[in-house]
Amino acid sequence: MAHVQAENEVMSADDRLQAQLELYHHSLAFVKSMALRAAADLRIPEAIHRRGGTATLSDIASDTGIHATKFAHLRRLMRVLTITGIFSSSSDAVFKLTPVSRLLAEGGQSSCNLSPVVVGVFVNPVAVTALLSIPKWFTDERAAALSLFEVAHGCTRWEMAAKEKGDSSLLDAGMVADSTIIMEVLLRDSHSIFEGVSSLVDVGGGHGAVAAAVARAFPEVNCTVLDLPHVVAGAPANESIQFVAGDMFEHIPSADVVLLKWILHCWQDEHCINILRRCKEAIPSRDAGGKVIIIDMVVGYAGAASAENVSMETQVLSDVYKMYMDGVEREEDEWAKIFSEAGFSDYKISPVLGFRSIIEVYP
Ligand SMILES: C[S@@+](CC[C@H](N)C(=O)[O-])C[C@H]1O[C@@H](n2cnc3c(N)ncnc32)[C@H](O)[C@@H]1O
Repeated sequence: MAHVQAENEVMSADDRLQAQLELYHHSLAFVKSMALRAAADLRIPEAIHRRGGTATLSDIASDTGIHATKFAHLRRLMRVLTITGIFSSSSDAVFKLTPVSRLLAEGGQSSCNLSPVVVGVFVNPVAVTALLSIPKWFTDERAAALSLFEVAHGCTRWEMAAKEKGDSSLLDAGMVADSTIIMEVLLRDSHSIFEGVSSLVDVGGGHGAVAAAVARAFPEVNCTVLDLPHVVAGAPANESIQFVAGDMFEHIPSADVVLLKWILHCWQDEHCINILRRCKEAIPSRDAGGKVIIIDMVVGYAGAASAENVSMETQVLSDVYKMYMDGVEREEDEWAKIFSEAGFSDYKISPVLGFRSIIEVYP
């Protein structure tokens, strides 16, 4: 934590040196993300996993196709990844998976492999390039009417995803892995939110991982996924759920419950209010079991005490990260305002899922 100093107090040489260290530490923080992305791209976690969870530098180099001339550089990369807790190292040249890198390792095909989230969502050049345009976006008159993404790329995030197949499939695969992990805990700890429900539509439900998990846990629930046509076209067939290609701003199929996981944080308030109004049209009254379930961040609602700092920092980092595509991570009063403007009467925030919460919203 930075030492607070009065403006007119002369900084000692030692204080200046300490401040310099902290400044450089923050300036270099992006290197952690780049090293993580390199490890995911090179599939280093999978290589260590295939060796039974422990591998030497030469094992990693030979299994990932790293050229002999780059061996010394691999050592440098692995040192950063070890100091940041992605891997552990018992001696200088033997590396092990940690719980974090296990999430990047599981066979590559596993539905819990979060590599596509690192590569396709967070450490994605389209997001990084857009975030570099923040000063221009904040100050340039011509940029005032555009989103940060449009300033940097000349189209919206979803227009790019529709045009670039590879980009879209990474996003879809990443969302399946993210949903698999979160739904296991949600269905264990918050099972009751689906009790008595006979139909559910997962809006922006991607390739259906959330709906499939609900359908497995509650076979009596009729589960539908609504997403854009190019996403639905690539979704794997699943007999327990139906896919509907459409636009959530136009129409949402009727159901007892509309679920929105990681949707509203992609949109500004006026868009969220429109989506929520469509949701309200799709569900029955509260007495008849109608509600919207939102899985998203409520900034300030942290996770377990042991992870509170990481959770809070992740929330505010995510808020600025979402700026890249005109999204927002909201605090409770910001959520309450959009619920009320969309015509909902009440809401309930339930225990956090890591850094995210479950919000039940009632008509
Ligand atoms: C961040 S992803 C979340 C996916 C999924 N709900 C999850 O959390 O795993 C946002 C999803 O919204 C979908 N989407 C974007 N615009 C949409 C629209 N107008 N109508 C329906 N779905 C849309 C995207 O295709 C994408 O699948």
